[in-house]
Amino acid sequence: MSPLRIPAAFPTLQEESLTLRELDEEDIPAWFARASDAEAADLAGDPVPESIDLGVPWLERQRSLFRKQAGIRWAIVPSGSPVSIGTVGLTFSPREEQVAELGIVVARPHWGMGFGTTAARMAVRYGIFELGLNEVRAEVLQRNPASKRLLEKAGLKMIRVLPPTEAEPEVMVLYALFRPAQSAA
Ligand SMILES: CC(C)(COP(=O)(O)OP(=O)(O)OC[C@H]1O[C@@H](n2cnc3c(N)ncnc32)[C@H](O)[C@@H]1OP(=O)(O)O)[C@@H](O)C(=O)NCCC(=O)NCCS
Repeated sequence: MSPLRIPAAFPTLQEESLTLRELDEEDIPAWFARASDAEAADLAGDPVPESIDLGVPWLERQRSLFRKQAGIRWAIVPSGSPVSIGTVGLTFSPREEQVAELGIVVARPHWGMGFGTTAARMAVRYGIFELGLNEVRAEVLQRNPASKRLLEKAGLKMIRVLPPTEAEPEVMVLYALFRPAQSAA
């Protein structure tokens, strides 16, 4: 059994500037617009979808992540916005207990407004203090300065540069944030 405190119902997180909530069918058009941005998709390591029809299996993958207790992917919704502008997620490591990988994408029209940093901070805080994670990590492309800056602002520290391999031919950088020593799981 997972030592994580994963709730039965999908957790909604709220702060003044934005809400992190469960993804639903209404998020598919925003997902398609975002995922069709080839440069952003490349930076996030995601494939560019051929049609919006792929939104249905995309949504099902996000739902199944939570159902199988393999992770949580939230829709990022700024206060007052009728639609989501991106997603942020924690994917639990299948090999190491209480470790999760952070992933985040914000749609280009909303870049540089602080939404990504706030959403990442909320997800990380929830992961450490509510779920009971010991570590949140992220691997980003060396050539992705916005992502590196976001991770640093969200409290993650650069651990090491990962040289290219056959499986990952680009230089990546590993970031991580560890549970503070004084806070028990
Ligand atoms: C990375 C990403 C999520 C950032 O989202 P965002 O909402 O724009 O983030 P923020 O507004 O919180 O800004 C993050 C920081 O990066 C900085 N930044 C943005 N673009 C930058 C660039 N090209 N070079 C250097 N810093 C940059 C911002 O200025 C900000 O730092 P500051 O507050 O000190 O000025 C967004 O750019 C994105 O979705 N990119 C494509 C997908 C991706 O790269 N995902 C991450 C993969 S792990």
